Parts: sequence; structure tokens; C-alpha cells
Amino acid sequence: MADEDIKSLTSKRVLLGVSAGIAAYKTPDLVRRLAELGADVRVILSKNSEQFVAPLALQAVSGHAVHNHAMTAESESGMGHIDLARWADVVLIAPATANFIARLCQGAADELLTTVCVATAAPLVIAPAMNQQMWQNQATQDNVATLIQRGVRMLGPDSGEQACGEVGPGRMMQPEDIAAGLSQSFEHSSLTGTSVMITAGPTWEALDPVRGLTNHSSGLMGYAIAQAAVEAGASVTLVSGPTNLEAPQGTQCVDVISALQMHAAVMADIDRQDIFIAVAAVADYRPQLEELKKIKKNAEKVSIGLIRNPDILAEVARLPKAPFCVGFAAETHDVEQYARAKLKAKKLQLVAANHVGGDETGFGVADNAISLISSDSVTELPKQNKHALARALIVEIAQHYQASNNNL
Ligand code: PMT
Repeated sequence: MADEDIKSLTSKRVLLGVSAGIAAYKTPDLVRRLAELGADVRVILSKNSEQFVAPLALQAVSGHAVHNHAMTAESESGMGHIDLARWADVVLIAPATANFIARLCQGAADELLTTVCVATAAPLVIAPAMNQQMWQNQATQDNVATLIQRGVRMLGPDSGEQACGEVGPGRMMQPEDIAAGLSQSFEHSSLTGTSVMITAGPTWEALDPVRGLTNHSSGLMGYAIAQAAVEAGASVTLVSGPTNLEAPQGTQCVDVISALQMHAAVMADIDRQDIFIAVAAVADYRPQLEELKKIKKNAEKVSIGLIRNPDILAEVARLPKAPFCVGFAAETHDVEQYARAKLKAKKLQLVAANHVGGDETGFGVADNAISLISSDSVTELPKQNKHALARALIVEIAQHYQASNNNL
């Protein structure tokens, strides 16, 4: 891999999971390489991996105590599995043995490392390492195909002479190549020099000081897109409704609550944007009246009058110097048909249509699937983790944006 391909991992939080294979002895070198690229690395050892690498060596190179496989009251009172899962920008499993890959595939949560893999919303990257026959075994190949379909990224394996003396595919990639490959999964330059504004999350339309109308958007999809746009080199403004998420590093985040506030924040800064991506689930209506005091339950029946909120995306797309506009369509049925209608009615360049209403994709869950629709194309981005999906979506948006500029 050429040096110029190696991009910085500065400020990236890499959670390295080490499973029990002979290639684990290379992980202190891997930690050192990741740290050289600027990453903050924490290590979790799976059961039995201590037989292949000394925890003290990993502690010395990472500068942090190493987590072992056990989930005890003591370990959970420190940085427990949920904290680790949330902390990571990426979870890298190296080496990933055939057994670990199979457990990952099953969604096993039987020790700290597998539990973190299930609990994290961060992208998963794995560097397989095993005997060549084990790698070529159909069960392993099926498991790998399933993981790729779910958005897990593979680094390797390499082919060549193996620790067991056999020759073939299955050897773990060299630590410097894993570090370089990992940094590439964060960075590319398809949006360098462009300003991108993204709306995310729900809005909250107050009825009184303690109650309001909202929806199930968690902000995950919009925040993942903001992060992917930063990684693609864009200058990113994230206008977010109320969520429990931390704004991705490198974004300028404007927090809002209601649709009217979101509308004002977008309009205040839209002039300098090249691309506008509306991911937020904005309330179409707000209560006509916001009571200043808590509404008392005196009446048997109460009616709430609602009035239309501004359609932020439609208004942006109508501007004389409108940015390249990407809308989202959350539909429960006839997804493509309704998405096409939105593309036309709102005069958008692209619509990302997703199925909502089930419990597997869309609102509030880790995964999503998108049909990306332009006036003359449909690109299917299959169901995967929202982080992986966001990166794929940004690549597509950048291509359409460049093509539209070339046509001017
Ligand atoms: O946040 P998550 O839990 O990760 O869930 C992600 C998501 C399901 C919310 C997201 O993928 C999604 O589909 N967002 C759009 C939801 C939506 O409100 O769709 P819509 O069909 O009602 O609106 C169409 C488009 O117009 C959207 O781009 C929306 O942002 C925009 N809009 C809608 C109303 C309004 N008043 N102003 C707008 O800008």
C-alpha cells in the first residue's frame, strides 16, 4: 500500500478487539501503528487471547489498561460494555478467528468483546486470520458474506505462508496495512472544498411546558451522514433537533427544538451551502396554541388545533440559488412511488427513500436501507448499519453532485 494512501486517524477512537489466534502476537505493533496515525486506541482481549499476547505489552503501547473478556461488577463499574460501545468511532477486530467471526455472525454476547460488538453503533472492521482451510470452509465464507452484507468491512486476509506451515489465504494482513486500511475507511476527498448542511433528529412541538408532539427519530442516520461528510472532506453544519447523541467531531452543530427553530437555523446559513441533506423528521404540524402553564385534566375531552409548519426542504429547493438538495422519504408502503412524487414536487436532485414502520430499519434502530432516487436512476443501498450506509450514501451524493456541476 503506497504511503500517499495513508490518511490520518487523528482524534479517531479505535477499539481494538483481539481474538484468540496466533496472529495476536502482532497486535502491539498494530496498536503502535494506529497510534502513529493519531488514533486513541483501547484494547479488549477475548477469552484465551492472553495466551498469544501479553496484556502488559498492549497496555504499554496503548497507554491504557487493557480490558479482558470478563464482565464483572468491577469492570462494569469502570468503563463498562455500553460505555466502550459508545466510546468507539470504529471497532477493529484483529485478528478475527474463524470462531470469532461465527460468533459475530450469530450476534453472540457471551463475553465483553462480543457484547461490545452487538452493543455498538460504530462501524465494525475485521482482519481475519486463520488456517487457509478454515478460511475456505463454506461455513466461514457464508459467515463472512453475511457480515459484509450487514456492513462489516473486511481487511484481508492476505495469502502466503502460514504459522501452521501451510500456504494459502487466511494470513492476517500486516499491521501497517491494517492501520492504513482502517484510516481509508474514514477518509476520502470526494467532498473536499464543499459546504454541506444536514438536518437531523426529530422536532418537538410544545403543547405546554411539559408536553409536546414529536416522533421516534433518534438522529442516528443524520449524525452518521454528518460524520461521513466530514470524513469526505466537507465543511459540515449539522442542524439537529433534540437527540441523545454527541455531535460528530469536526461538525458545526446548531441545536434546535421545534420545526420553526430548525427552519430559522437553516435559512440563516443556507446561502453559503453547496449541498443540503434533509434527514430530520420534521413535524408537519404544530399546536396552534402553546399553553404557558401545564394543561390541567379538568375537561373530559380536549381538542388540539394544529397548523402547518413550513416545509424547510421545499423552501430551500425553491431558493433562486438553491444548493444541491437531497431529501429523505420515510414511507410505510409504495416507497419508490411516493419518493418519486417528492422528488418532483419539491424539485430535488435526489431522494433517499427508506422503509419505516417495521422494527428492522428506519426510525430509532441501528440499521437502515435506502433506495436513492434521481430523475433518471435508482441505486439500492442494502440494509446495513447506519454508519456504513452513510458512507456509501455520501459517495453516491458526491458523484451526483459532481455530475450536476459538470453539466452546468
Ligand atoms: O433518526 P433515525 O432514528 O436514525 O431515523 C432516520 C429517519 C427514518 C428519520 C430518516 O432516515 C428519514 O427518513 N428522515 C425523513 C423523515 C421524514 O420526515 O420524511 P418525510 O417524508 O415526512 O419528509 C420528506 C422530506 O422533507 C425529508 O427530507 C424531511 O427532512 C423534509 N421535511 C419535511 C417536513 C418539513 N416540515 N420540513 C422538511 O424539511
